[in-house]
Amino acid sequence: MSELKIGLIGTGSISESHLQAYQANPKVKLIAVCDLNEERVRNTAEKYNIPHVYTDYRELLANPEVQAVSICTWNNSHAEISIAALRAGKNVLCEKPLCKTVDEALQIEQAVRETGKLLQVGYVRRHASNIAVLKKFIDAGDLGGIYYAKASLIRRLGNPGGWFADRERSGGGPLIDIGVHAIDLCWYLMGKPKVKSVSGNTYNKLGNRSNIQNYEFYQAADYDASLNTVEDMANALIRFENGASLMVDVSFSLHAKDNSAQINIYGDKGGAEIEPVLSIVTERHDTIINIDPQISTPGFDFQGAFDREINHFVDSCLGLIETNSPVEDGVEMIKILNAIYQSAAEGREIHF
Ligand SMILES: NC(=O)c1ccc[n+]([C@@H]2O[C@H](COP(=O)([O-])OP(=O)(O)OC[C@H]3O[C@@H](n4cnc5c(N)ncnc54)[C@H](O)[C@@H]3O)[C@@H](O)[C@H]2O)c1
Repeated sequence: MSELKIGLIGTGSISESHLQAYQANPKVKLIAVCDLNEERVRNTAEKYNIPHVYTDYRELLANPEVQAVSICTWNNSHAEISIAALRAGKNVLCEKPLCKTVDEALQIEQAVRETGKLLQVGYVRRHASNIAVLKKFIDAGDLGGIYYAKASLIRRLGNPGGWFADRERSGGGPLIDIGVHAIDLCWYLMGKPKVKSVSGNTYNKLGNRSNIQNYEFYQAADYDASLNTVEDMANALIRFENGASLMVDVSFSLHAKDNSAQINIYGDKGGAEIEPVLSIVTERHDTIINIDPQISTPGFDFQGAFDREINHFVDSCLGLIETNSPVEDGVEMIKILNAIYQSAAEGREIHF
């Protein structure tokens, strides 16, 4: 079998996880990279021994050898690059979020339909090893019908700055950046129920907390303390047509005692705590039992999840499997995220 030839666009932080995963996959060959920043893309090409180097994504897409691309650029370019890639005949793995607006999402979906090419959304959390374990329990009916989920990803001082803090390039703050992971994972595990309504709040009270001293936190490469046009925190209640509901809260800045991550789902036969570590709860013979799966990585295994996400994409491109994260799942999420922002702006529940 000949190798699948891969191009990658956007050689910033997260591209490393994609590149490492591609490099470890014997079915592919990395042949092209692109970034607006010439020094950055040249360094990446050298590190991974990639022959074709571009600073304009259109030139990479014009390379007929490239069969599939990873898009790891700022959120504001996901739609334009995805559509151009699909129309150039490439399969696409697009980082989350799929794009910024519902209009863009629908245009990407249309491009997928018209070209017949594949677009997989980068929902890496779906590929965590603890999720593969939990999915077996869910699919076997051990949790019953899942009717409630609660997700909370709290950073007390964690606005990365740079493009993440620029609403124009990111589309928003913690909701679209980390909320997308939490909401998607719950929605996926709940069986992707149809959304009925959302009610959300966003707050902009603390800003990026650039006043804080003596406490280190992750800062994007082009961090600029004076630039911040995104929300500090967001919360939402999402109702589904089947009666299930999901509560979520996420923050970049909050007067919380510590950072925390909690993702829980609850069914009528059992529940599961996913973050910080996987634990399953049920009852047997009128006794409540907590099941702690004995697995090497009970929490989110970052690079392992990226390896499995990329391998899943490669096998989908090769026609060996069907992707578990199709464009439709990206569209649905952009509808939910935008409805939360709209609900917060208008102070009312949004009905689908
Ligand atoms: N799945 C995850 O867990 C995860 C984690 C981090 C980031 N991400 C996503 O990955 C994407 C990139 O995030 P990052 O943290 O790597 O950001 P980054 O700023 O480190 O890197 C982005 C790179 O894209 C380049 N770029 C931007 N627009 C471009 C264009 N039109 N053409 C070519 N290059 C362009 C920039 O120059 C930069 O080098 C975002 O969509 C983000 O949401 C996902």
